[in-house]
Amino acid sequence: MSSLIFGSQLPQYFSSEDLSLEHFQTVCDQHADLELYRLAEGIEHNIVIYQGDRLREGMDEAGAESELKTELGNCLRDGPGIFVIRGAYPDTTVIDGMTAVFMQIIEDEKSSLGEVGDHFGDNERIWNSYQKACLAAPEVFIEYYGNPLLSVAAQSWLGPHYQITAQVNNVKPGGKAQSPHRDYHLGFQSAKVAAKFPVHAHLMSQFLTLQGSIAHSDMPVESGPTLFLPFSHQFPAGYLAFHEADFAAFFDDHKSQIPLNKGDVVFLSPALFHAAGTNLSDKDRIANLIQISSAFGRPMESINRRVMTEKVYPILLDKIKQDVISPRTVGDIIAAVADGYSFPTNLDSDPPIGGNVPATAQRMMHQALQEHWTLERLKSELSLYVEKRKA
Ligand SMILES: [Fe+2]
Repeated sequence: MSSLIFGSQLPQYFSSEDLSLEHFQTVCDQHADLELYRLAEGIEHNIVIYQGDRLREGMDEAGAESELKTELGNCLRDGPGIFVIRGAYPDTTVIDGMTAVFMQIIEDEKSSLGEVGDHFGDNERIWNSYQKACLAAPEVFIEYYGNPLLSVAAQSWLGPHYQITAQVNNVKPGGKAQSPHRDYHLGFQSAKVAAKFPVHAHLMSQFLTLQGSIAHSDMPVESGPTLFLPFSHQFPAGYLAFHEADFAAFFDDHKSQIPLNKGDVVFLSPALFHAAGTNLSDKDRIANLIQISSAFGRPMESINRRVMTEKVYPILLDKIKQDVISPRTVGDIIAAVADGYSFPTNLDSDPPIGGNVPATAQRMMHQALQEHWTLERLKSELSLYVEKRKA
């Protein structure tokens, strides 16, 4: 039995016969065609480049957002699998504000936990920078994650009800390169475990996550911005292949690397072969790595969305009352902090009403802001919501 996916006849399980370097080369020999990316500025080293200003302007026009989502999703799936939005943050003081929050978190963790180990070298890392930043500085969090380009990119790959997680990575001068790999889910399993999953699970893995990286410092090539192999996400057996020495050598010979500026954002398919570069400069290379999960997938980190919701709610409400925040930003922040998906739940205590899906925390937060609930009321409703979803 075989099926036609990505234009290839595929078996039920991958074996060593599927690890054809020749086939990989054919896949990676493709060239990104600017004609297919009407809203892009150009192609650099097979990476599609957008300008944040142009995308933001266009988003106000009717139908423009769905056109943008179509184009970005197409780039991630059928194109090179990676795009960069230059100037995604036009005002880099927003980035600097968040960098200061991150640095304070690192300092606090160093004094409370000691030097925290990292899995690839001489770095500083904040696990769950998402929740930590929200609780430490909710105003900065709203400005930073209220960026509409983040939600458009997330929706282009994952549809609604996505779940954001993030980790900060500060690679110090001398920090070493990673070996090429694919990312979460199957990219984090050994080749032996990955081989136990049927082929359709290999293909599915990449559709459950979107990888992003927000540049918090300028990243000239000598500072080692991430190396990518465009189109490599289209190689069906890539979750096994990246473990192989000949595929790693091919990556080394054909990788793309472009300098980034503070405020640029990269999005890529988690199945794209990539590796952080060596930092040969004398400056830190700081990125906030965002990993956005489908409503249908398990995120890599546990997030306490309830405390995040409670933290941002009074600030959002205040901004709404003062009319200093757009409905779009409010919607994006609600999507960023609150549960948007009804499941898993306890259907005995949380039955669907007027449809097939029980109410979500996102819906509750929209209602709370419309009706100007007090924080106390929101807290008690959230507490009920959490309670009724428990087994
Ligand atoms: Fe990675």
